[in-house]
Amino acid sequence: MFRITTQALYNLQATKLVNRFCVVSKNKPEAGPSQGHLTDKYTVIDHTYDAVVVGAGGAGLRAAFGLVELGFKTACISKLFPTRSHTVAAQGGINAALGNMTEDDWRWHAYDTIKGSDWLGDQDAISYMCKEAPKAVYELESYGLPFSRTPEGKIYQRAFGGQSLKFGTGGQAYRCCAVADRTGHAMLHTLFGRALGYDCIFFVEYFALDLMMDDQGACRGVVCMSMADGSIHRIRAGYTVIATGGYGRAFQSCTSAHTCTGDGGGMTIRAGLPMEDLEFVQFHPTGIYGSGCLMTEGCRGEGGILRNSLGERFMERYAPTAKDLASRDVVSRAMTKEILEGRGVGPEKDHIHLHLNHLPAELLHERLPGISEAAKIFAGVDVTKEPAPVLPTVHYNMGGIPTNFKTEVLNQVAGKDQVVPGLLAAGEAACASVHGANRLGANSLLDIVVFGRQAANLVGEKWKPGQKQPDLPKNAGEAAIARIDRLRHHEGSQTVAQVRKDLQRTMQKHAAVFRIEKTLQEGVEKVKEIYSRKDDIRIKDKGLVWNSDLVEGLELDNLLLQGKMTIEGALNRKESRGAHARDDFPDRDDKNWMKHTLARIKDAKKGDIELTYRDVITKTQDPKEFDTVPPKKRVY
Ligand code: FUM
Repeated sequence: MFRITTQALYNLQATKLVNRFCVVSKNKPEAGPSQGHLTDKYTVIDHTYDAVVVGAGGAGLRAAFGLVELGFKTACISKLFPTRSHTVAAQGGINAALGNMTEDDWRWHAYDTIKGSDWLGDQDAISYMCKEAPKAVYELESYGLPFSRTPEGKIYQRAFGGQSLKFGTGGQAYRCCAVADRTGHAMLHTLFGRALGYDCIFFVEYFALDLMMDDQGACRGVVCMSMADGSIHRIRAGYTVIATGGYGRAFQSCTSAHTCTGDGGGMTIRAGLPMEDLEFVQFHPTGIYGSGCLMTEGCRGEGGILRNSLGERFMERYAPTAKDLASRDVVSRAMTKEILEGRGVGPEKDHIHLHLNHLPAELLHERLPGISEAAKIFAGVDVTKEPAPVLPTVHYNMGGIPTNFKTEVLNQVAGKDQVVPGLLAAGEAACASVHGANRLGANSLLDIVVFGRQAANLVGEKWKPGQKQPDLPKNAGEAAIARIDRLRHHEGSQTVAQVRKDLQRTMQKHAAVFRIEKTLQEGVEKVKEIYSRKDDIRIKDKGLVWNSDLVEGLELDNLLLQGKMTIEGALNRKESRGAHARDDFPDRDDKNWMKHTLARIKDAKKGDIELTYRDVITKTQDPKEFDTVPPKKRVY
């Protein structure tokens, strides 16, 4: 159906890239959706694969080539060229108890992760991930990932927040495997390079619109749009893997790329499925003041220090043992408190100083070259000489599409978990839940490779290459086409940019580091009003060729849904846990709130949301190897 015309450009042999340079064949589509009037205006092309992966960041790529390796005909669709995916921006590293710097044990890593999650993490998934971590890192090394090295040639591991030895009693762990401060960049390129060795079909610059669900509630694939020409593609598949990343752009100031709009979450919500724990939004302590660009936690791992306007190393007061390397929620709250109490730096006293200037310039050059450059560009600061201005900035969504540790998406029916047939999710888009209420730094790159691989293996257990698939439901994709059509032609009074800006500002102000009933309630009302304006949007470009206004409108739908669930989940959770800090409920309440939030849309037009809850899994994979860590007070 497709011919590659860019072979020379990409010098690819086995891999086919279906992208803007490709010629869409004049062949008739295999089938179109039912012959409604809409299909007259849109070219609809059908495809069949064993598996389709949505997203080509770390989780998506690892799943995609893992699937091909197992013999599955696999499509990977991405709105970006794969190496532009947000994984590229990860800096500090990937955790694994390799024991290259000190003795280490995956059980200590699992303990730290459970404690870091503030006991909201599912311990079966956490024990699985941490045990798999060394294998995952050596696998990446075998693919050619160019890790920084110790003098003996081992993979270099740096200190990172919330990581300890001997179940919290042995001091700081050095567990974060790093490629200077460009680990995500190196990883993404390594994984893409690896993927090119397989016959995986990439649909590049295709925007995923909706899941195709059948009457039995099973997922039969995904419908997407070629951004180059507006053609609609219905990709039927035995398994669909969502690996679309987070929705950081629901907030005004975030370290996330502009493309982090939670497209997989939006599709899941529109399919009538729940989302889990969206109220848990991570603020990274060190976004560059003003731009929000990330200054890696590796800065503090290498010896960097946070200071207030008095020059005080204030983290000593908040976390006497771990100090600047306490977990992110703790450090972000401490910084915010310092600012609120008048000890911020700068003319407005509204940020904090990150000092690296006491460290040797050679160390900064070798281990932190990327942030040295970023500080120069975005803050005009030479980090060898002066402190960088930083502020807690939205960085990560702990919540996402609920899955079990096998990456199978879960629905809740009559209060019970039920696997959604044919649908998997991995990475930041998913909630396994390995991060619970607060993710530890460098557990995200780990999550994406462990669960990307797990998704491929799950399909290997449940599906046979070439297995016959039922026909698509008659109306598959029609709702998505109708949504596009309405957005293109509706003569409303709002622009996408205005509605998005209002959402981002409201989320930033009302779902902040510290939350309280009154401001959350006001935020809920404001988001409700903003949500209602989505039906009054007008886009200027009515065409279908590279219509970025249209794509941003579709992305806005996803941001609005998840923003709304985030703030309503936050209002409803009457406790403080991990990244969710309520001034009016300052303590963790395990009796009433050690449970996951599930948010589901009840009325898409009004955006009415229903909140239910599911139990945290406290059992580990194998209690003989590593037993449950019971809840206790979390101190660093
Ligand atoms: O600070 C960082 O380098 C970020 C790492 C992470 O979020 O895992």
